Amino acid sequence: MLKVKLNVDKISKTFNNSGDKLLVLNDISFDILEKEFLTIVGPSGCGKTTLLRIISGLEKPSSGKIIFNNKTIIKPSKLIGYVPQEYSLFPWKSIKNNIKFGLKIQNSKPDEIENKIDSLLEMMNLLKFKDYYPKDISGGMKQKVAIARSLAIDQKLILLDEPLKSIDAQNKNKLQDDIIDIWQKSKRTILFVTHNIDEAVYLSDRIIILSSLPGSIKKIIPIDLKHPRDRTNPEFNSIRRKILKELF
Ligand SMILES: Nc1ncnc2c1ncn2[C@@H]1O[C@H](COP(=O)(O)OP(=O)(O)OP(=O)(O)O)[C@@H](O)[C@H]1O
Ligand SMILES: [Mg+2]
Repeated sequence: MLKVKLNVDKISKTFNNSGDKLLVLNDISFDILEKEFLTIVGPSGCGKTTLLRIISGLEKPSSGKIIFNNKTIIKPSKLIGYVPQEYSLFPWKSIKNNIKFGLKIQNSKPDEIENKIDSLLEMMNLLKFKDYYPKDISGGMKQKVAIARSLAIDQKLILLDEPLKSIDAQNKNKLQDDIIDIWQKSKRTILFVTHNIDEAVYLSDRIIILSSLPGSIKKIIPIDLKHPRDRTNPEFNSIRRKILKELF
């Protein structure tokens, strides 16, 4: 049995918009297991980003709690990395220094920092670009730097909110393989959000399907296929169809 990394316990969230109450998340409970790749899918506006923000400690739930390392999360933790839906790099810092930023916060030694940056850039195939500035690299590469930056800190749990949304189909497939590679090599636990069902089936150990607003758990689907996965495999397609049926 895999250990539980983080426990989402009966989370509900209501936003107050100048007197109007909007229930966004309704009684969400699940575990994220050690070294798991867990993905959340669901209709636009069903509360996926809100749920990630609550798990990261940036947003408070209206009820329920997030338990991580036997403690309730009440504020952002250095042990949880969060790459928001709209990623951002510092335009005035080079790629290398964007990644360094995360490491400095952790008070690492200068030579350790240099080695770590190089190995991360190498893993992401970005070493050649380390002295470039964000404006001089493509959207997909920027996204990789944002992911590398979150991996730079020794966070064992990483929350990725639609990281490949704005990337063209060809590069998307390559980046999906990169993410699997990093996930396997670095022994991280990943909670991933996507609208792309094919991507969810390609990457995940389990997929959580959320209902439309207010988001609640409709189904959790385990995927027992080995990596690298074959998109033409009949089982792959039957899982994809099963998810589409739940969503529409
Ligand atoms: N800070 C906030 N104040 C008020 N309402 C909010 C706030 N943040 C989110 N909402 C509302 O909560 C709902 C869920 O938003 P959220 O961004 O979590 O959805 P999502 O599932 O991530 O959508 P998408 O797939 O489009 O990214 C939306 O109706 C949104 O307008
Ligand atoms: Mg979102």
